[in-house]
Amino acid sequence: MASKTNVMFNILFVSVAVILGNVLRSRLIPISNEFKRSLGYPEDSLLNFTELSQHYGYASEEHTVVTEDGYVLTIFRINRRKCSKLRRPPVILMHGLLQSSDAWLDAGPDAGLAYLISDACYDLWVGNQRGNYYSRRHVRLDPDRDSEFWKFSADEIGLYDIPATIDYVLKYTREAKLNYIGYSQGAGTYLIMCSERPGYCDKASVLITLAPAARQTYTKSLPYRFLTQVISQTEDALATTGVYEIFAKGSLSQEFLAFLCKFSAISEAICGTGESLFDSFHPGSITNETLRVIFGHFPAGTSVHNMARYGQSMQTKRFQKFDYGKERNMKIYGEEQPPSYNLSAVTVPFVALYGNNDHLVDPKDVSWLISRLPNVLEAKVVSDPLWNHLDVTYSHYTKDLIFPKINEYLLKYSQS
Ligand SMILES: *[C@@H]1O[C@H](CO)[C@@H](O)[C@H](O)[C@H]1NC(C)=O
Ligand SMILES: *[C@@H]1O[C@H](CO)[C@@H](O)[C@H](O)[C@H]1NC(C)=O
Ligand SMILES: *[C@@H]1O[C@H](CO)[C@@H](O)[C@H](O)[C@H]1NC(C)=O
Repeated sequence: MASKTNVMFNILFVSVAVILGNVLRSRLIPISNEFKRSLGYPEDSLLNFTELSQHYGYASEEHTVVTEDGYVLTIFRINRRKCSKLRRPPVILMHGLLQSSDAWLDAGPDAGLAYLISDACYDLWVGNQRGNYYSRRHVRLDPDRDSEFWKFSADEIGLYDIPATIDYVLKYTREAKLNYIGYSQGAGTYLIMCSERPGYCDKASVLITLAPAARQTYTKSLPYRFLTQVISQTEDALATTGVYEIFAKGSLSQEFLAFLCKFSAISEAICGTGESLFDSFHPGSITNETLRVIFGHFPAGTSVHNMARYGQSMQTKRFQKFDYGKERNMKIYGEEQPPSYNLSAVTVPFVALYGNNDHLVDPKDVSWLISRLPNVLEAKVVSDPLWNHLDVTYSHYTKDLIFPKINEYLLKYSQS
């Protein structure tokens, strides 16, 4: 365990980097991968989804989804080449806040869930939500020039991105239904869709949620609370200085983390400690190798507005839409308080897997959610008492601790 001064130093270091990176906002002049290779960046951190999966013997396809409101999302389909026949129906796997599809590969072929699910011969589609580096495009708006591009939060991701991704996959595969796995924001936005888009909720035969983010009332992480609350309070001020996008890939904060974390000798000491302080300590769960790779793909970028909404969600006991303040709420919603999402509309058979040591989505909030859903098949606490939030994508214990339960439900709702 690092000493107290060490820990303080790390917090300071990472905070300063993050704040500087976003206040300055500047995208660095793109640093070429050749140059990074010569500096000793791990190869996996420099590859995109297609290249990375190919590197480990998987074939993947790139697909483009256009949402009703014009956002252009890149999604991937990944296949284990040895599968002669894929199970039906298709499966969608959706990442969490500030991540991209690549998060499901970062832990490597023995632990990344995209690999494990493909290995079991499911027809796996890996999504990307608006604003990250694979979905930073629009039919009309330019993300670098039009601030309107960044006027979205989980509310709009649930309203548009999730249904568009589902529609695309169903149409392409000519299936009537699919199975859906959502992690954190990738699960919360499915719930939002169920509430707001009648007819969509039951397009999945089963919804498997991993640390689902609905309300965040009991979130324990102080750095996460602090960060999102500061952003929430400064959203308008940031807008006047032209800052609408945050934690983008290629920004100073992401490049700095990637640079810092590439050194194997200090990756665990600094990056591991920083990650643990943000979430919680789970010694040995994320390997040094993975720690060196993560920050090539994380943070993947989102809107200030979305981060602000998370700040709000820690100040209320409701799972509700963005709070614009009484006056604007009245104009937008017709009431002073933002409307709550209708959890009775989440009629899809629902499974939850979550950790008791999760400091970002607290088990108390998951229990609150589960108690309000009409069709819960199973809600399981991961057997390892130290299981935390980021373990879902980055732990090397996924194969033993969460994959078997995911596979159990996928199998039950699939045909071979
Ligand atoms: C991934 O990298 C390959 C090879 O460099 C490139 O052709 C492809 O367009 C990239 N895909 C995305 C979505 O960036
Ligand atoms: C990871 O790196 C740290 C610091 O160099 C080292 O103490 C630790 O033993 C390494 N862990 C593993 C699992 O190799
Ligand atoms: C919530 O959803 C349920 C199930 O679809 C529906 O019966 C109910 O009317 C909805 N409630 C509101 C307030 O919209």
